Amino acid sequence: MTLILGIETSCDETSAAIVADGRLIHSLVTASQIDIHRAFGGVFPEVASRQHVMAIVPVIEEALAKASATWSDIDAIAVTQGPGLVGSLLVGVNTAKGIAASARKPLVGVNHLEAHFYANWLVERPAAGGDAEPQLPPAPQFPILCLIVSGGHTALVHVSEHGNYELLGQTIDDAAGEAFDKVARLLDLGYPGGPMVEAAASAGNPAAFDLPRAWMKETHDFSFSGLKTAVLRLVQKHAGADAPQSLRKSREGALPPRVVRELSIPDLAASFQEAVVDVLVEKTRLAAAAQPVREVLLAGGVAANKALRRAMSERLGVPVRYPPLKFCTDNAAMVASAGYFQYLRHDWATWDMDVLPNLGLIRAQRAGPLEI
Ligand code: KG4
Ligand code: ZN
Repeated sequence: MTLILGIETSCDETSAAIVADGRLIHSLVTASQIDIHRAFGGVFPEVASRQHVMAIVPVIEEALAKASATWSDIDAIAVTQGPGLVGSLLVGVNTAKGIAASARKPLVGVNHLEAHFYANWLVERPAAGGDAEPQLPPAPQFPILCLIVSGGHTALVHVSEHGNYELLGQTIDDAAGEAFDKVARLLDLGYPGGPMVEAAASAGNPAAFDLPRAWMKETHDFSFSGLKTAVLRLVQKHAGADAPQSLRKSREGALPPRVVRELSIPDLAASFQEAVVDVLVEKTRLAAAAQPVREVLLAGGVAANKALRRAMSERLGVPVRYPPLKFCTDNAAMVASAGYFQYLRHDWATWDMDVLPNLGLIRAQRAGPLEI
């Protein structure tokens, strides 16, 4: 059995996990900063990195204790190297380097987007039940088409085997999660935006408003800025002189009362969600039909959206998998899983490993293993 300690600090969750053989979670501890950033209506980078500094050591210690593991049980340390907020990433990477150096363990730098993909491999260890390791459900089967939908990315990726990715298409403007967050702010639904829009939408009629869908024909690319602007225009039309001028500036409390009286916010949320889901599902269906794939996997925070999960399963015609709800958003278990497969490939970091805030999905293989 190979045990990996995963560390994730790319955005606003300080998370550590111990995962066996890339799949079985022995422990996962996450300190969320959601309540702190709620006051700003989004993640405040400076505050985020300082919170990571305070939380990282207790979170790692708790992960070890919950797994009843000691440093000698751990085979390697995997840490998110990018993409993400530079100050936040630095806390995780430097902590991981310190541990790897002092415990003399290999260090693996993980791509956060790749980690989201590996959330689909994760299985929780039953709470009680003796020493016997549980029977794992079958792992995803390659070749895979993965739809990554997070706060910063929206991409369709063909994965022929572990570590071998081909980017088929991506958003040319906003990410799907970003559109959810901006519309949530505009409609005063609160933070974080995605779950709030989903909750409001559950009481609304998705056919109430005819919102635009950008099909980006002949490509596997996406665009969500037109849809987001259409929601803004609707609000402006009803708000008159009090209208917010842009989605970026609008904050909680910005929605003019007249809009709430004249527009049904649940209907608008449901129509917006339906438009996002429609595009994501149809474009994934076309991409899955364009090349041989055995499974379609969803990954990233927006994969937690139940309307998206349902529509994917119903409309795709290919087996669809999505991670358990709690592993869709940022967590260290998915980092440990991705790190395990990288560890097996000897794709290890060197001591000069730096954070890569703008890291894309495809990167060069590392030169060689770390000397320990
Ligand atoms: O993957 P993630 O935790 O962080 C990034 O790597 O970006 O994704 C966060 C994004 C946010 O934009 C959030 O609003 C969105 O995922 N999200 C959702 C839902 N839960 C989280 N979007 C739609 N429906 C949800 N239930
Ligand atoms: Zn993420």
